[in-house]
Amino acid sequence: MRVPSVLVAASSLLLPSCHAVFLDDAWKVDWHLALVGAPQDHTTFFHQPVAASKASLLYTLSDKAILGAVNPKDGSLRWRQQLSPLSNSTSTFLRAAQDHHLVISAIDGQVAAWSAADGRQAWSVDLQDATVKDLEIVEIPEPNEQGGSKDAIVLTGGPLPTVQRLARQDGAQKWLFRDETGDVPFQLSVSSTHIFYISLHTSMLGGLKIKVVTLDPLTGHKVEQYTLATESDLGSTADILSVGANSASPIIAWTDKAHSTLKVNVIGSKAVSTFDIDADQTVLDLSLHAPYHVNSRPHFLVHYETSSQNWADVYHVDLVKSTVSKAYSLPKLSGNAAFSVSTSEANVYFTRISESEVTVVSSASHGVLARWPLKGAAGITLQGDHAPIHAVSEVSVKADIVSAVRSAVYLASGEWVLIRDGTPVWERPEALSSIKSAVWAYLSAPEGLVHELEIEGHSNPVQAYVHRVKRHIAALNSLPAYLTALPGRMANSVGLGKSDADVDATNTFGFHKRIVCATESGRLVALDASGNGNTIWSVKIADSAATSPWSSPKLDARPDGTIVASSTDGTQHRLFNASNGVEMTYTGSALSSGLNPVAKYAYGVEEGKVVGGPIAKAASWRFSPGNGEKVYSLTSRPLDDPVASIGKVLGDRKVLYKYLNPNTLLVITASEVTLSATVSVLDALSGSVLYVASHQGVDATLPIASTMSENWFAYSFASQPTADGVKGYQLVIGEMFESPFSNDRGPQSAVKNLTEVDYSYQPHVVSQSYRIREPISKLAVTQTRQGITSRALLAVLPESNAVVGIPRQVIDPRRPVGRESTKDEMMEGLMKYTPVLEFDPKWYLNHQREIYGVETITTSPAVLESTSLVFAYGLDVFSTRISPSFSFDILGKDFNKLQMLATVAALAVATVAAAPLQINTRWQFL
Ligand SMILES: *[C@@H]1O[C@H](CO)[C@@H](O)[C@H](O)[C@H]1NC(C)=O
Ligand SMILES: *[C@@H]1O[C@H](CO)[C@@H](O)[C@H](O)[C@H]1NC(C)=O
Ligand SMILES: *[C@@H]1O[C@H](CO)[C@@H](O)[C@H](O)[C@H]1NC(C)=O
Repeated sequence: MRVPSVLVAASSLLLPSCHAVFLDDAWKVDWHLALVGAPQDHTTFFHQPVAASKASLLYTLSDKAILGAVNPKDGSLRWRQQLSPLSNSTSTFLRAAQDHHLVISAIDGQVAAWSAADGRQAWSVDLQDATVKDLEIVEIPEPNEQGGSKDAIVLTGGPLPTVQRLARQDGAQKWLFRDETGDVPFQLSVSSTHIFYISLHTSMLGGLKIKVVTLDPLTGHKVEQYTLATESDLGSTADILSVGANSASPIIAWTDKAHSTLKVNVIGSKAVSTFDIDADQTVLDLSLHAPYHVNSRPHFLVHYETSSQNWADVYHVDLVKSTVSKAYSLPKLSGNAAFSVSTSEANVYFTRISESEVTVVSSASHGVLARWPLKGAAGITLQGDHAPIHAVSEVSVKADIVSAVRSAVYLASGEWVLIRDGTPVWERPEALSSIKSAVWAYLSAPEGLVHELEIEGHSNPVQAYVHRVKRHIAALNSLPAYLTALPGRMANSVGLGKSDADVDATNTFGFHKRIVCATESGRLVALDASGNGNTIWSVKIADSAATSPWSSPKLDARPDGTIVASSTDGTQHRLFNASNGVEMTYTGSALSSGLNPVAKYAYGVEEGKVVGGPIAKAASWRFSPGNGEKVYSLTSRPLDDPVASIGKVLGDRKVLYKYLNPNTLLVITASEVTLSATVSVLDALSGSVLYVASHQGVDATLPIASTMSENWFAYSFASQPTADGVKGYQLVIGEMFESPFSNDRGPQSAVKNLTEVDYSYQPHVVSQSYRIREPISKLAVTQTRQGITSRALLAVLPESNAVVGIPRQVIDPRRPVGRESTKDEMMEGLMKYTPVLEFDPKWYLNHQREIYGVETITTSPAVLESTSLVFAYGLDVFSTRISPSFSFDILGKDFNKLQMLATVAALAVATVAAAPLQINTRWQFL
């Protein structure tokens, strides 16, 4: 029989690609930026984790207290550790000894050593209440040791400052020196023979005297001390230039208030050298760059910056006479520059990254050893927003010739860039580690079509018809272009053409939505929610003043494709075009009250009370927390919260009507004293209380997360440890219905006109609580275009650095308790209630990646009904899309279009081939 064999062959083409559903989407629908935060000048360096190998990594302890190691080849993160500073940490230190496999960090009272290669903790020491003021590594060998000792030396502050030597192997204290003079500890310096403890003594007239105490490195005993008469120059510690410690000849340098002279003392001698600063304009900033090795030449560079120029002077220290002399100057250049110091054996090199070039000089003489103009795709210059702030460099020297230099430069824009021989190699968008607000922008395409369709849906049939005809005529205009592009599209769609040719053209499903973020430093950055986290545009809206009203602005998106930024205090507004970041004239009234407006009502907290009411007469009601509790959080229903069905169809085909009040407000109040928390649902228009639940034994010092959608709400809190010290975490979910009975609309049955519904009656609320194994810091709900797709509850798990999407039906508060589900309940998918909720590994949206520091999670519908876009930020930035009811309206990645087309073709051939056969067969039978 020929016919079946042809058909079987054709259909078998379809079979091989029947794999698991969407497994391959794991790394394709999402992207993750593993950030470290802004690298700090004094805690960033190149270091070789394995002494035997020349390959180095880039280490930093950032402003976010993340200790990270970055691969300088491609900018990828090798490892990171989140250190836990006190709320107001100001002292962070990071050191690595040459040829040693550990890096040592100090933050507040915590000193820890980490394996430089993989970030594993080697030891940690808790200095209790003391705060670390300085951390150095002592290279002076002990009598029985080979090479350097590499122990840590720690200076602590507080009422009784101490200097301690901690053993490199385990952090054990070898000795401790106590300063009982009452002077303010300032820093430590280490030479090849001694440890110097530098403190500041306040003179009678308020000036500061620098006091230097020399300590014996083996015993910690005081050897000698001297005080410099600096009180007439030194008003504050800001005038002292921090000096690299490990040096053949440590120095301390300071300047007067006007920055007109520089004074230098070679530590150990009392002589002070004075140098005039040669400036045409006021010097705004001075910084000192010295090598960090006891066996390097005792040379250092002082970098000067005025509002328009930068230059530097190089100084040499005479070790025998303990004097300092100026060796040479580097020319004045316009703009800002970053200087960095590198060593190669005993030689010292200074790298200057200026507006337009990278130059390297030796510390010994002023001749430029290497010069590279900055080059990039469009010829970059580092100025204005991209001015260099600080840099660290590594130079390759072969036979006294500098053959290459690579520098990790931190720019004013918050980018961390690696420049190799003048060419940028990679950049890390560390500005995104401090996003404080983010909104989904409305963009013209493809939302334009959706909007048109919505108009057609909402107008009367005749208008809708006219609108549609107009739309089709308008669409004809783009037909020629569409036809020209058609072959390419078809090639693309079977995987033959270039992929990702044009993001906007392939944005049919609305996955490439744009998200606009505002950072702590007052910068707006637009990202593509799909894509790979690429920045589309970035503008600085705050000036550099320390307290700009535009740092951490609040954002709102308008349907016309613009973004409104509101100043921190909410009184000023600015308008930006979401597609290119261009500022536009702001139109609209400035809100006078500090209340949050939502559709028809506004709410806020005033004098410890929740106030709210209709927008027209805000603050028409007040809600006072009871029980000694304070208002913890207010959660409203999302502004855009489409609900596909007003009821829940039960297993017996009856309907339970949802309580769909658009003005519900979830108020959580809590007290750290009475250990209680109260959850209230209010009607924000009338202020009437719809539901109250009280919880005792709540640990209100930990986050209480909450969210609200449709007719349900969820919250999570930590309970006080039980007698055996186990902390409990609970997730509570509540759902509101119009009436406890099916097919009954309660008080609403009488209402004829839907716009006149009064929602201030009490809904029927069912709730259930679950014990969970770890805390939840934030909750959110997925959003889809029509609200037909079932929702998922998104929870941020800070302990495992994860985000889970819990399917809503799993935590339906109507799950039967203490009995098996009936047949009707099974039809609804209601399983027997279990008090403990285990997170299914399939719910983890991050898969095996760790997402650090998520503070907010926001969702937005895609054009496809099945899909919700998710964006999480805080420290890391993570974006994914989720289909809680599976992607019923899209083909998976593993759908083989070529195979499908081949199958269709084969079937066509088969049909053609079979047609005469069939006719023949018929003829034969006739
Ligand atoms: C943190 O530091 C700032 C400025 O130094 C100060 O105003 C604030 O009160 C401090 N906060 C805490 C919690 O100590
Ligand atoms: C924003 O800029 C784009 C591109 O320049 C322009 O097409 C669009 O009309 C602008 N949007 C508004 C609201 O002006
Ligand atoms: C419903 O009430 C509103 C406001 O009172 C009124 O404008 C509207 O015409 C009413 N609709 C119907 C169908 O009665």
